[in-house]
Formats: sequence, structure tokens, C-alpha cells
Amino acid sequence: MASITIRNLDEAAKQALRERAAQNGRSMEEEARLLLGGINSDQTSTNYQRDKPISPTSYAPLNRMNTSDGETIAISKVNSKAFASKRILLIIGGGIAAYKCLDLIRRLRERGATVRPVMTKAAQEFVTPLSVSAIANDKVFSDLFDRDDEHDIGHIRLSREADLIVVAPATADLMAKMAQGHANDLASTVLMATDKPVLIAPAMNPAMWSHPATQRNLQTLQSDGIQFIGPNAGEMAESGEAGLGRMAEPMEIVHAIGHLLVPDDAPKPLAGKRAIITSGPTHEPIDPVRYIANRSSGKQGHAIAEALGRAGAEVILVSGPVELPDPQHAETFHVQTAREMQSAVEKALPADIAIMVAAVADWRSVTEADEKMKKENGKGPSSLKLTENPDILKGLGHHAKRPSLLIGFAAETQELEKHAKAKLKRKNADWIIANDVSPEGGVMGGDKNTVKRITSSGIESWPKMNKADVAERLVNEIISHFEVETLEV
Ligand code: C5P
Repeated sequence: MASITIRNLDEAAKQALRERAAQNGRSMEEEARLLLGGINSDQTSTNYQRDKPISPTSYAPLNRMNTSDGETIAISKVNSKAFASKRILLIIGGGIAAYKCLDLIRRLRERGATVRPVMTKAAQEFVTPLSVSAIANDKVFSDLFDRDDEHDIGHIRLSREADLIVVAPATADLMAKMAQGHANDLASTVLMATDKPVLIAPAMNPAMWSHPATQRNLQTLQSDGIQFIGPNAGEMAESGEAGLGRMAEPMEIVHAIGHLLVPDDAPKPLAGKRAIITSGPTHEPIDPVRYIANRSSGKQGHAIAEALGRAGAEVILVSGPVELPDPQHAETFHVQTAREMQSAVEKALPADIAIMVAAVADWRSVTEADEKMKKENGKGPSSLKLTENPDILKGLGHHAKRPSLLIGFAAETQELEKHAKAKLKRKNADWIIANDVSPEGGVMGGDKNTVKRITSSGIESWPKMNKADVAERLVNEIISHFEVETLEV
């Protein structure tokens, strides 16, 4: 049988195959097999005659889904079928974040899951059972001793009939009950009776979250195998309060659920590949109390590290100072400065993939004062002498051990494409993911991102997506890239 290596095809043929595969929603490998094997010859011959060239900006994403509100989400090649016909028991606790459950239910149902809601008594003070029931298209269960004939479903059946139990928002009280094994209402009894995976999304005041009792309960629940998503840092409903304690956003919870629903034997298309990711800002010290920093939250880099790990890659995440938990599927190294980040990246080489997402400070102070610098009365501000930091991405681009796929990010506030293209060349990267970080876009620190992928063959504009979806789609592109590199038919 004849054998061809896609890597050896000329650029134009590779590009045509890539476009064709994207158009048909198939991987390049599947597309090539169909073409070469002559399977479904009608479809092959009609699809192959392209009467007009497809511009690189109009690629259909390989795996995408449009939701009812027109938002596009990327579906991981690993968990695209995770939600279909899955039964999720959603326990809604009593907190202001309960209102977000309406959106959570809608998004889960859009993906094909059924959602059966259980509400605690306190939850009903924040959102009405009528709204929850209407969105879930099911009765709301709230009474441990419900004698209603039509819906005579006991706590055992409720917990056993689900594929997964989600508690959102999980209050400090609910967490305490779970940790102690209380079973004095329907929610806590269902949680005691279940043999299914449980995911909880805590939401509470930062002081309650950091209280030693809650932290003890957290540890107990983690060692009992309970999965957590969040809490996030940010503003609280109470005015003037901020810190760690906001419930994770509905889409973050959806992603966490998707991953829990993926069976252990799900395909791992990046198995055997090693990836280095940088994420977050760097802090460049001026004196013991001051430093140069930026507003990067690390959300995008961490999401990419997690998504790569889920796809089977061995992931080394080098993170600057962020308020995020370490991703589950990556080995994380924490650094403060650009030089520490560079040294951690160097140590992690060799790698197949490197994605430099961190917003590395371009400059650092020439000197780091041992004592806090003093304001000198009448002298005005003292000037700070700066020197350039090492460019980690550029260093990798010209390194003897250059990873075979090198991806940089370009955060710009003006002339995005022009600067990103120049960066691709200057840093010798394979792809640049460019995003507009003008303050009005809310990208820095926010949950959404609108990016363009710039490669030597063109520019692809991606729709506005959640950062976790940008991560999934980038990982899909990486999987396709390696399929092209290695496919032999
Ligand atoms: O030159 P600029 O900072 O705009 O380039 C952005 C890209 O380069 C990002 O991928 C970032 O992680 C990387 N970078 C780096 N080291 C630096 C500056 C930027 O790795 N010192």
C-alpha cells in the first residue's frame, strides 16, 4: 500500500487539506483518509472542487457550537460528547449567587444534559422555585418528606439517578454539613446517600471562606474526593467587600462538569507530548515593598495549561504571582520575576510545545533597594532607572532546543495585526495569538477574550469566547497541527 507523509506535502496542498478538513468539521487525518480511500466518493468529488478560495479568516472552527444567545463555544476534541443525555442533579444552596444557577441550568441543557434541581430552604429566599423549575423543565425538589404522589422520588433515587451532583452555590453551612456528614434536609441527605461524583462551587464572604473552620472543611471534603471549582477572587455583593469567595462563573462550572463527565478512557491526542506554558504577570522588585507589575490575572494561561493536560500532554506551567489555584493537570512552578520565569522555562526544556502566555514585565529596576525608599521632602519624585528584562519567547525562538511548536501571545491596544505579524517574525514563533487589551474590552483580568491566530499562512479571527473556550480551541488547533506533522496513511 502506498504511503504518504502529510508533513512532506507542499505548503499549498497542506493548506488546502487544512481548509477542507475545517469546512467539513473533520480532522486532517480523517479528511485525508476519506480522500485517499475513496470512501463516499460522491461527497468527496463535490467537496473537493472548491470554486472559490477560502480566506484564512473564514475557517470554520474544527469543533464549535453556537448557543441560543449566539455565543460561540469551542468544544474540546476530548469531551465534545460529554454532556449528551447526562443527568445532573443540581443542589442550589442559599446565597446571593443562587441567581447564576438559572444561567448554569440553561447552558447545561443547551449541551444536551438534563438538570434536576434540588433547592435548600435558604436558596428559595434568593431565587424562586418557579423560575428554577421553568428553566430546568423539571420539578424543584426541596422537601425530604415529600408525599406528593406524582413526584414520589426519595433521596436515594434522586442521588442514584444522576450521573453527577453539582452543588452551586455551596455555602459555608452546606460545606460544613457535608464535611460532618449531617443529613437533616433533602440536600444534605442526597449528598450523604450518593455514590456519584460531586462537584461543588463555593460562594461566600471572603472572611467566611478564609475562616479556619471552612478551610478545615475544605480539606476534609477534598480528601473525601469532592471536586471543587472556585471560588474566584473579586467584588462581593455586599458593597465594599472584595476577596476570594465569588462563585465561579456558570461557564467555568460547565467546563468543570464537562471534564468530570469525560470517561477516564477518553482519547488523549497529545499523549507523549511535553508542553511548557507561562502564565500571569511578573513582579519586578523596586524595594522590599514596591514592585513593577501589570493587570494580568493568569486566567488564559492557566486555562490553556489545564486544557493541554486534559488532552494528554505532560504540562509544565511556570506561573507568575496569581490568585488562581494550580491547574489539576499540570506541574506548576511559581516564580515572581522575569528572570526567574526564564530560568524555570530553560530548566523545563526540551519540549514539543511552548506557549508563552505570561505578561512578562518588559523592564525591571536596575537596582533593588534593601530598605524601603524614602520620600525626601521638597525634592519631588525620585526617578527609577530601568533595564530591559530577558525576552523569554524570543530566547526560545532562537534556542538550540527550540520547541517544534512555539506560540506567543500579543497583547496590544492598537494596530493589533501589524504588531502581531512583526512579533511572529522577530521572535521566530510559529503562531501568535493576538488580543486587544484596551481597557474598554475588559480582557485583562476578565473572563472573555477575542483573539486572532496569526501564522505564516494567514490570520484567523476567532469570535468572542470565554477564556476556557479559547484554551479548548487552541488545543484543538495544536492537536490538528500534530496530526499534520505525523500522519502517515
Ligand atoms: O514583546 P511583547 O511583550 O509584546 O510579546 C508578547 C509575547 O512575548 C508573549 O507571548 C509573552 O509571553 C512573551 N514575552 C516573553 N518575555 C518577555 C516579554 C514578552 O516571553 N520579556
